[in-house]
Amino acid sequence: MVKKLLSVLGGKAVFPPPIWLMRQAGRYLPEYRALRAKAPDFVQFCLNPELAAEVTLQPVRRFRLDAAILFADILLIPHALGQKLWFAEGEGPRLEPLRDADSIAALCYDGEKLAPVTKTIRHVRGALDEDTSLIGFAGGPWTVASYMIEGRGGTDHETIRRWAWAEPQSFARLMDVLVESTSAYLIAQADAGAEALQLFESWAGTVPAGLFERAVLAPTARIVAAVKAKHPAIPIIGFPRAAGAWLAHYAQSTKMDGIGVDQMTDIASIALAPHVARQGNLDPVLLLQGGNAMHAEARRLAGAMRGKPFVFNLGHGVMQPTPPDHVAELVATVRAA
Ligand code: CP3
Repeated sequence: MVKKLLSVLGGKAVFPPPIWLMRQAGRYLPEYRALRAKAPDFVQFCLNPELAAEVTLQPVRRFRLDAAILFADILLIPHALGQKLWFAEGEGPRLEPLRDADSIAALCYDGEKLAPVTKTIRHVRGALDEDTSLIGFAGGPWTVASYMIEGRGGTDHETIRRWAWAEPQSFARLMDVLVESTSAYLIAQADAGAEALQLFESWAGTVPAGLFERAVLAPTARIVAAVKAKHPAIPIIGFPRAAGAWLAHYAQSTKMDGIGVDQMTDIASIALAPHVARQGNLDPVLLLQGGNAMHAEARRLAGAMRGKPFVFNLGHGVMQPTPPDHVAELVATVRAA
Protein backbone atom coordinates (compact mmCIF):
# COMPACT_ATOMS: atom_id res chain seq x y z
CA MET A 1 0.00 0.00 0.00
CA VAL A 2 1.26 3.47 -0.88
CA LYS A 3 1.35 5.82 2.10
CA LYS A 4 -1.34 8.51 1.96
CA LEU A 5 1.07 11.45 1.92
CA LEU A 6 3.14 9.92 -0.88
CA SER A 7 0.03 9.17 -2.95
CA VAL A 8 -1.01 12.82 -2.75
CA LEU A 9 2.49 14.07 -3.56
CA GLY A 10 2.36 11.70 -6.52
CA GLY A 11 -0.60 13.71 -7.81
CA LYS A 12 -3.60 11.71 -6.51
CA ALA A 13 -6.56 13.17 -4.67
CA VAL A 14 -7.14 11.34 -1.36
CA PHE A 15 -10.10 12.02 0.92
CA PRO A 16 -10.02 12.62 3.82
CA PRO A 17 -6.61 14.19 3.15
CA PRO A 18 -3.40 13.24 4.94
CA ILE A 19 -2.41 15.68 7.69
CA TRP A 20 0.83 16.85 9.30
CA LEU A 21 1.76 20.25 10.72
CA MET A 22 4.76 22.47 10.25
CA ARG A 23 6.55 22.78 13.61
CA GLN A 24 4.59 19.80 14.91
CA ALA A 25 7.55 19.08 17.20
CA GLY A 26 8.40 21.93 19.53
CA ARG A 27 7.87 23.87 22.69
CA TYR A 28 4.06 23.63 22.72
CA LEU A 29 4.52 19.95 23.69
CA PRO A 30 5.40 19.28 27.35
CA GLU A 31 7.35 16.16 26.36
CA TYR A 32 9.49 18.35 24.03
CA ARG A 33 10.18 20.85 26.81
CA ALA A 34 11.22 18.00 29.11
CA LEU A 35 13.83 16.69 26.65
CA ARG A 36 14.96 20.18 25.65
CA ALA A 37 15.69 20.95 29.32
CA LYS A 38 18.36 18.24 29.17
CA ALA A 39 20.03 19.82 26.11
CA PRO A 40 20.52 23.56 26.64
CA ASP A 41 22.48 23.99 23.39
CA PHE A 42 19.91 23.87 20.56
CA VAL A 43 22.44 23.06 17.80
CA GLN A 44 23.81 20.13 19.80
CA PHE A 45 20.22 19.03 20.50
CA CYS A 46 19.52 18.91 16.73
CA LEU A 47 22.78 17.00 16.21
CA ASN A 48 22.04 14.34 18.85
CA PRO A 49 20.46 11.47 16.86
CA GLU A 50 18.82 9.77 19.85
CA LEU A 51 17.21 12.97 21.18
CA ALA A 52 16.35 14.32 17.71
CA ALA A 53 14.70 11.02 16.73
CA GLU A 54 12.69 11.00 19.94
CA VAL A 55 11.52 14.59 19.37
CA THR A 56 10.61 13.77 15.75
CA LEU A 57 8.43 10.90 16.95
CA GLN A 58 6.70 12.71 19.85
CA PRO A 59 3.91 14.41 17.85
CA VAL A 60 3.43 11.36 15.62
CA ARG A 61 2.84 9.13 18.62
CA ARG A 62 0.58 11.60 20.34
CA PHE A 63 -1.58 12.58 17.35
CA ARG A 64 -1.13 9.73 14.81
CA LEU A 65 -0.24 12.22 12.07
CA ASP A 66 0.36 10.97 8.52
CA ALA A 67 3.93 12.22 8.48
CA ALA A 68 6.88 12.82 10.74
CA ILE A 69 9.12 15.77 9.90
CA LEU A 70 12.75 15.38 10.77
CA PHE A 71 13.67 17.38 13.86
CA ALA A 72 16.53 19.67 12.81
CA ASP A 73 16.80 23.30 11.71
CA ILE A 74 17.30 25.20 8.46
CA LEU A 75 20.32 26.93 10.01
CA LEU A 76 22.35 23.72 10.23
CA ILE A 77 23.54 24.55 6.69
CA PRO A 78 25.32 27.78 7.74
CA HIS A 79 26.68 25.81 10.72
CA ALA A 80 28.09 23.16 8.34
CA LEU A 81 29.52 25.96 6.17
CA GLY A 82 31.56 27.11 9.15
CA GLN A 83 29.49 30.15 10.14
CA LYS A 84 29.10 30.73 13.86
CA LEU A 85 25.48 29.97 14.93
CA TRP A 86 23.87 30.21 18.34
CA PHE A 87 20.38 30.41 19.80
CA ALA A 88 20.04 33.12 22.43
CA GLU A 89 17.31 32.35 24.98
CA GLY A 90 14.12 34.19 24.00
CA GLU A 91 15.79 35.86 20.98
CA GLY A 92 15.76 33.17 18.32
CA PRO A 93 18.73 32.27 16.13
CA ARG A 94 21.83 34.45 15.80
CA LEU A 95 24.73 34.14 13.35
CA GLU A 96 27.98 36.01 12.99
CA PRO A 97 26.87 37.88 9.83
CA LEU A 98 28.75 37.59 6.54
CA ARG A 99 30.35 40.96 5.80
CA ASP A 100 31.91 40.83 2.34
CA ALA A 101 33.02 38.68 -0.58
CA ASP A 102 35.92 37.35 1.52
CA SER A 103 33.57 35.97 4.15
CA ILE A 104 31.70 34.12 1.38
CA ALA A 105 34.97 32.76 -0.03
CA ALA A 106 35.80 31.41 3.44
CA LEU A 107 32.64 29.26 3.60
CA CYS A 108 33.36 25.58 3.17
CA TYR A 109 30.68 22.89 3.43
CA ASP A 110 31.57 20.02 5.73
CA GLY A 111 28.87 17.38 5.26
CA GLU A 112 30.36 15.34 8.11
CA LYS A 113 29.07 17.94 10.55
CA LEU A 114 25.54 16.95 9.50
CA ALA A 115 26.13 13.20 9.54
CA PRO A 116 24.17 12.95 12.85
CA VAL A 117 21.06 14.13 10.95
CA THR A 118 21.28 11.11 8.65
CA LYS A 119 21.52 8.91 11.75
CA THR A 120 18.38 10.55 13.13
CA ILE A 121 16.60 9.71 9.87
CA ARG A 122 17.65 6.05 10.13
CA HIS A 123 16.41 5.84 13.73
CA VAL A 124 13.08 7.44 12.84
CA ARG A 125 12.48 5.26 9.77
CA GLY A 126 13.06 2.20 11.92
CA ALA A 127 10.42 3.36 14.39
CA LEU A 128 7.63 4.57 12.09
CA ASP A 129 4.70 2.35 11.18
CA GLU A 130 3.88 1.48 7.58
CA ASP A 131 1.37 4.31 7.07
CA THR A 132 3.53 7.19 8.26
CA SER A 133 5.93 9.03 5.95
CA LEU A 134 9.15 10.75 6.94
CA ILE A 135 9.76 14.24 5.54
CA GLY A 136 13.27 15.68 5.41
CA PHE A 137 13.86 19.39 4.83
CA ALA A 138 16.18 22.31 4.32
CA GLY A 139 15.77 26.06 4.08
CA GLY A 140 15.32 27.79 0.74
CA PRO A 141 18.32 29.72 -0.61
CA TRP A 142 16.94 33.23 0.01
CA THR A 143 15.79 32.44 3.55
CA VAL A 144 19.09 30.84 4.57
CA ALA A 145 21.09 33.61 2.86
CA SER A 146 19.00 36.18 4.77
CA TYR A 147 19.98 34.71 8.11
CA MET A 148 23.61 34.45 6.97
CA ILE A 149 23.78 38.10 5.92
CA GLU A 150 21.42 39.73 8.43
CA GLY A 151 22.69 37.56 11.29
CA ARG A 152 19.17 37.16 12.65
CA GLY A 153 15.50 36.90 11.73
CA GLY A 154 12.82 39.53 12.05
CA THR A 155 14.52 42.31 10.06
CA ASP A 156 13.12 43.86 6.88
CA HIS A 157 16.05 42.27 5.03
CA GLU A 158 17.57 45.58 4.06
CA THR A 159 21.15 44.32 4.29
CA ILE A 160 20.69 41.32 2.01
CA ARG A 161 18.64 43.39 -0.43
CA ARG A 162 21.37 46.04 -0.63
CA TRP A 163 23.94 43.30 -1.15
CA ALA A 164 21.99 41.49 -3.86
CA TRP A 165 21.47 44.74 -5.81
CA ALA A 166 24.93 46.24 -5.32
CA GLU A 167 27.11 43.16 -5.63
CA PRO A 168 25.35 40.72 -7.92
CA GLN A 169 28.47 38.63 -8.44
CA SER A 170 29.21 37.94 -4.81
CA PHE A 171 25.49 37.37 -4.19
CA ALA A 172 25.50 34.82 -7.02
CA ARG A 173 28.53 33.16 -5.43
CA LEU A 174 26.61 32.82 -2.15
CA MET A 175 23.65 31.32 -4.05
CA ASP A 176 26.06 28.81 -5.67
CA VAL A 177 27.40 27.82 -2.25
CA LEU A 178 23.86 27.34 -0.93
CA VAL A 179 22.73 25.37 -3.99
CA GLU A 180 25.67 22.99 -3.65
CA SER A 181 25.47 22.49 0.12
CA THR A 182 21.66 22.26 0.27
CA SER A 183 21.58 19.75 -2.60
CA ALA A 184 24.25 17.58 -0.93
CA TYR A 185 22.41 17.76 2.41
CA LEU A 186 19.02 16.82 0.90
CA ILE A 187 20.58 13.98 -1.11
CA ALA A 188 22.14 12.67 2.13
CA GLN A 189 18.71 12.84 3.79
CA ALA A 190 17.13 10.89 0.91
CA ASP A 191 19.99 8.36 0.97
CA ALA A 192 19.28 7.81 4.67
CA GLY A 193 15.56 7.19 4.13
CA ALA A 194 13.67 10.49 3.96
CA GLU A 195 10.63 9.79 1.73
CA ALA A 196 9.74 13.37 0.82
CA LEU A 197 11.56 16.68 1.17
CA GLN A 198 10.40 20.20 1.92
CA LEU A 199 12.21 23.44 1.13
CA PHE A 200 11.18 26.17 3.60
CA GLU A 201 11.46 29.52 1.80
CA SER A 202 9.92 31.26 4.79
CA TRP A 203 11.08 34.76 3.82
CA ALA A 204 10.06 34.58 0.13
CA GLY A 205 7.68 37.45 0.85
CA THR A 206 10.56 39.90 1.31
CA VAL A 207 12.20 39.34 -2.10
CA PRO A 208 11.86 42.31 -4.47
CA ALA A 209 10.29 41.21 -7.77
CA GLY A 210 13.42 42.17 -9.68
CA LEU A 211 15.49 39.74 -7.62
CA PHE A 212 13.04 36.83 -7.49
CA GLU A 213 14.57 34.95 -10.43
CA ARG A 214 18.14 34.92 -9.15
CA ALA A 215 17.37 34.81 -5.40
CA VAL A 216 14.62 32.17 -5.45
CA LEU A 217 13.57 30.60 -8.76
CA ALA A 218 16.91 29.77 -10.38
CA PRO A 219 18.75 28.47 -7.28
CA THR A 220 15.68 26.49 -6.18
CA ALA A 221 15.30 24.90 -9.62
CA ARG A 222 18.98 23.87 -9.44
CA ILE A 223 18.48 22.25 -6.03
CA VAL A 224 15.43 20.31 -7.24
CA ALA A 225 17.28 19.16 -10.38
CA ALA A 226 20.34 18.05 -8.37
CA VAL A 227 18.25 16.06 -5.88
CA LYS A 228 16.15 14.45 -8.64
CA ALA A 229 19.27 13.49 -10.58
CA LYS A 230 20.15 11.23 -7.63
CA HIS A 231 16.63 10.40 -6.40
CA PRO A 232 14.24 10.76 -9.36
CA ALA A 233 11.22 9.49 -7.44
CA ILE A 234 11.46 11.53 -4.26
CA PRO A 235 8.71 14.18 -4.04
CA ILE A 236 9.74 17.73 -3.13
CA ILE A 237 7.47 20.36 -1.61
CA GLY A 238 8.38 24.04 -1.94
CA PHE A 239 7.00 26.52 0.61
CA PRO A 240 7.58 30.06 -0.64
CA ARG A 241 5.76 31.79 2.20
CA ALA A 242 3.96 35.08 1.54
CA ALA A 243 4.87 34.99 -2.16
CA GLY A 244 1.26 34.66 -3.34
CA ALA A 245 1.62 36.25 -6.76
CA TRP A 246 4.60 34.01 -7.54
CA LEU A 247 3.17 30.64 -6.52
CA ALA A 248 2.14 29.32 -9.92
CA HIS A 249 5.34 30.48 -11.58
CA TYR A 250 7.43 29.10 -8.69
CA ALA A 251 5.76 25.69 -9.00
CA GLN A 252 6.29 25.54 -12.73
CA SER A 253 9.83 26.84 -12.97
CA THR A 254 11.23 24.87 -10.01
CA LYS A 255 9.34 21.64 -10.96
CA MET A 256 8.11 21.06 -7.42
CA ASP A 257 5.79 18.10 -6.75
CA GLY A 258 3.94 20.03 -4.09
CA ILE A 259 3.47 23.63 -3.00
CA GLY A 260 3.08 24.73 0.60
CA VAL A 261 0.59 27.58 0.83
CA ASP A 262 0.40 30.22 3.57
CA GLN A 263 -2.88 31.31 5.17
CA MET A 264 -2.97 34.59 3.25
CA THR A 265 -3.52 32.79 -0.06
CA ASP A 266 -6.72 31.19 -1.39
CA ILE A 267 -5.32 27.68 -1.79
CA ALA A 268 -8.06 26.41 -4.11
CA SER A 269 -7.63 29.14 -6.70
CA ILE A 270 -3.88 29.08 -7.42
CA ALA A 271 -3.26 28.17 -11.06
CA LEU A 272 -1.20 24.98 -10.63
CA ALA A 273 -0.93 22.04 -13.00
CA PRO A 274 -3.45 19.38 -11.86
CA HIS A 275 -0.79 16.91 -10.70
CA VAL A 276 0.92 19.44 -8.38
CA ALA A 277 -0.14 18.84 -4.78
CA ARG A 278 -1.23 21.73 -2.56
CA GLN A 279 -0.39 21.74 1.12
CA GLY A 280 -1.78 24.07 3.76
CA ASN A 281 -3.17 26.37 4.87
CA LEU A 282 -5.20 26.66 8.08
CA ASP A 283 -4.40 29.85 10.00
CA PRO A 284 -2.15 28.82 12.93
CA VAL A 285 -4.13 31.25 15.09
CA LEU A 286 -7.23 29.06 14.60
CA LEU A 287 -5.28 26.09 15.96
CA LEU A 288 -4.17 28.18 18.92
CA GLN A 289 -7.75 29.28 19.53
CA GLY A 290 -9.51 25.95 18.91
CA GLY A 291 -13.27 25.59 19.20
CA ASN A 292 -16.01 25.92 16.62
CA ALA A 293 -14.21 28.40 14.38
CA MET A 294 -11.28 25.99 13.98
CA HIS A 295 -13.51 23.00 13.26
CA ALA A 296 -15.69 24.89 10.79
CA GLU A 297 -12.73 26.28 8.87
CA ALA A 298 -10.95 22.90 8.81
CA ARG A 299 -14.07 21.29 7.33
CA ARG A 300 -14.47 24.08 4.80
CA LEU A 301 -10.85 23.77 3.72
CA ALA A 302 -10.94 19.97 3.40
CA GLY A 303 -14.20 20.26 1.44
CA ALA A 304 -12.91 22.98 -0.88
CA MET A 305 -9.85 20.88 -1.71
CA ARG A 306 -11.72 17.60 -2.22
CA GLY A 307 -10.90 16.13 -5.63
CA LYS A 308 -7.47 17.78 -5.79
CA PRO A 309 -4.18 16.35 -4.53
CA PHE A 310 -4.15 18.03 -1.09
CA VAL A 311 -2.20 17.68 2.16
CA PHE A 312 -3.85 19.26 5.19
CA ASN A 313 -1.43 21.52 7.09
CA LEU A 314 -1.21 24.98 8.60
CA GLY A 315 -0.27 28.12 6.70
CA HIS A 316 2.86 28.38 8.91
CA GLY A 317 4.21 26.62 12.00
CA VAL A 318 2.35 25.68 15.18
CA MET A 319 2.48 28.66 17.55
CA GLN A 320 4.17 28.08 20.87
CA PRO A 321 1.20 28.70 23.21
CA THR A 322 -1.03 26.25 21.25
CA PRO A 323 -2.75 23.72 23.56
CA PRO A 324 -1.81 20.19 22.37
CA ASP A 325 -5.46 19.11 22.74
CA HIS A 326 -6.38 21.42 19.89
CA VAL A 327 -4.07 19.45 17.59
CA ALA A 328 -5.77 16.19 18.58
CA GLU A 329 -9.17 17.78 17.93
CA LEU A 330 -8.08 19.13 14.54
CA VAL A 331 -6.77 15.72 13.45
CA ALA A 332 -10.08 14.11 14.47
CA THR A 333 -12.08 16.69 12.50
CA VAL A 334 -9.98 16.29 9.36
CA ARG A 335 -10.20 12.49 9.56
CA ALA A 336 -13.98 12.72 9.91
CA ALA A 337 -14.34 15.25 7.07
O1 CP3 B 1 8.56 21.37 11.91
C1 CP3 B 1 9.13 20.64 12.75
O2 CP3 B 1 8.54 20.18 13.74
C2 CP3 B 1 10.55 20.20 12.46
C3 CP3 B 1 11.60 20.95 13.01
C4 CP3 B 1 11.90 22.36 12.55
C5 CP3 B 1 12.46 23.33 13.42
N1 CP3 B 1 12.76 24.43 12.68
C6 CP3 B 1 12.70 23.13 14.86
C7 CP3 B 1 12.92 24.29 15.73
C8 CP3 B 1 11.81 22.94 11.28
C9 CP3 B 1 11.23 22.38 10.00
C10 CP3 B 1 12.37 24.25 11.39
C11 CP3 B 1 12.50 25.16 10.23
C12 CP3 B 1 12.93 26.54 10.46
N2 CP3 B 1 13.86 27.01 11.33
C13 CP3 B 1 12.45 27.64 9.71
C14 CP3 B 1 11.47 27.55 8.56
C15 CP3 B 1 10.08 27.41 9.02
C16 CP3 B 1 9.47 28.65 9.60
O3 CP3 B 1 9.14 28.63 10.79
O4 CP3 B 1 9.35 29.65 8.87
C17 CP3 B 1 13.09 28.79 10.20
C18 CP3 B 1 12.88 30.20 9.70
C19 CP3 B 1 14.01 28.37 11.21
C20 CP3 B 1 14.94 29.22 11.99
C21 CP3 B 1 14.61 29.15 13.41
N3 CP3 B 1 14.92 28.10 14.24
C22 CP3 B 1 13.93 30.13 14.18
C23 CP3 B 1 13.40 31.44 13.66
C24 CP3 B 1 13.87 29.63 15.48
C25 CP3 B 1 13.36 30.33 16.69
C26 CP3 B 1 11.89 30.16 16.77
C27 CP3 B 1 11.43 30.11 18.17
O5 CP3 B 1 10.28 29.70 18.30
O6 CP3 B 1 12.18 30.48 19.09
C28 CP3 B 1 14.45 28.35 15.50
C29 CP3 B 1 14.55 27.45 16.66
C30 CP3 B 1 13.72 26.20 16.57
N4 CP3 B 1 13.72 25.37 15.48
C31 CP3 B 1 12.90 25.65 17.59
C32 CP3 B 1 12.39 24.45 17.07
C33 CP3 B 1 11.50 23.46 17.77
C34 CP3 B 1 12.67 26.24 18.99
C35 CP3 B 1 13.96 26.08 19.74
C36 CP3 B 1 13.85 25.83 21.21
O7 CP3 B 1 13.51 24.71 21.63
O8 CP3 B 1 14.16 26.76 21.96
